[in-house]
Amino acid sequence: MEIAVERLPEEKLKPLYNDPAQLGFGKIFTDYMFTMKHQDGKGWVEPKISPYSSFSIDPAAVVLHYSQEIFEGLKAYAAKDGRILLFRPEQNAKRMYRSAERLCMEPFPEEYFLKAVETLVNLEKRWIPRAPETSLYIRPTLVGLGAALGVHPASEYLFYIILSPVAAYYKEGFKPVKLAVEDYYVRSVIGGVGDAKTGGNYAASLMAGAKAEEKGFSQVLWLDAKEKKYVEEVGSMNMFFVFGKKLVTPNLGGSILPGITRASVLELAKSLGYQTEERQISIDEVVKGLDDGTLTEAFGSGTAAVISPVGSLYYQGKDYLVNNNQVGKVTQELYTKLVDIQFGNAKDPFGWSWDIGKF
Ligand SMILES: Cc1ncc(COP(=O)(O)O)c(C=O)c1O
Repeated sequence: MEIAVERLPEEKLKPLYNDPAQLGFGKIFTDYMFTMKHQDGKGWVEPKISPYSSFSIDPAAVVLHYSQEIFEGLKAYAAKDGRILLFRPEQNAKRMYRSAERLCMEPFPEEYFLKAVETLVNLEKRWIPRAPETSLYIRPTLVGLGAALGVHPASEYLFYIILSPVAAYYKEGFKPVKLAVEDYYVRSVIGGVGDAKTGGNYAASLMAGAKAEEKGFSQVLWLDAKEKKYVEEVGSMNMFFVFGKKLVTPNLGGSILPGITRASVLELAKSLGYQTEERQISIDEVVKGLDDGTLTEAFGSGTAAVISPVGSLYYQGKDYLVNNNQVGKVTQELYTKLVDIQFGNAKDPFGWSWDIGKF
């Protein structure tokens, strides 16, 4: 794949933001984006890096009516020694391929995904922020175009990547968040698309999220759709419950996203001597563990939030404090070890970190 690059004159480049307070999450976008199209009979064509700009698409495009859309989220990190690092990008490429298959879309080849990400990030390296806990968020997206008002897969696809320098995902930073257990609305069902990273899942989650935010919660903790009994995940994170030296996380039953951070935390925790269990965990077991003190910590895991300690759970009219609303030892240890690998501060015995260039 030969990527054509259309450069802007120096004076047209945007001013940089480096102050984490100004960055927030996903509000600022860099100067360039990557695009590539798929057309019937031609395959993937026109790989291009061009100035970040609006698209013009047909009002009858499939994505606008039937939500044929998938995306990914990964980050580029500035190591102190000047290296530019990605964290397990091949896993994002794989997951995007699987999401495309589930949504009957033309899958974007994994080797193109990796080359496009590496090339764009290297071109935009001045945008990778250096302040602690900041990074360059990478958002690959695939949409079904083609004008056709009939429920069928699109005839054309657009793959694109945009970049956004980001600070902490939650305004709290690395502090305990308050979650509300959602026992009315559901996010997804087994047999649905909950394990694909597709926009419709997030649209379906907005109502519950907005109601929870109004009441002062950071996000909702979803339960399974059938029995409203088992814990699933949080809006943009998988969940972990700590029982002393044992970590329990909901198994991948088809309705939750197979998080790359989740898989990494499981491996990391095992290597640190923790026992790990992937299984169904009921909200009753969680509440009982909080009541009798056997559940010692809880945290969410995800690219955006990394590892996010949970300070309290609201369920059926009652607030349950987790570890007295403090960051627990296990959460802190896993967070530090993971972030040290992501930012290249520590040796990476797992081979997760990809060194893709220098400043
Ligand atoms: C619904 C949902 N669950 C879990 C995650 C965590 O996945 P990952 O660790 O791959 O970022 C995300 C974020 O991508 C998500 O959107």
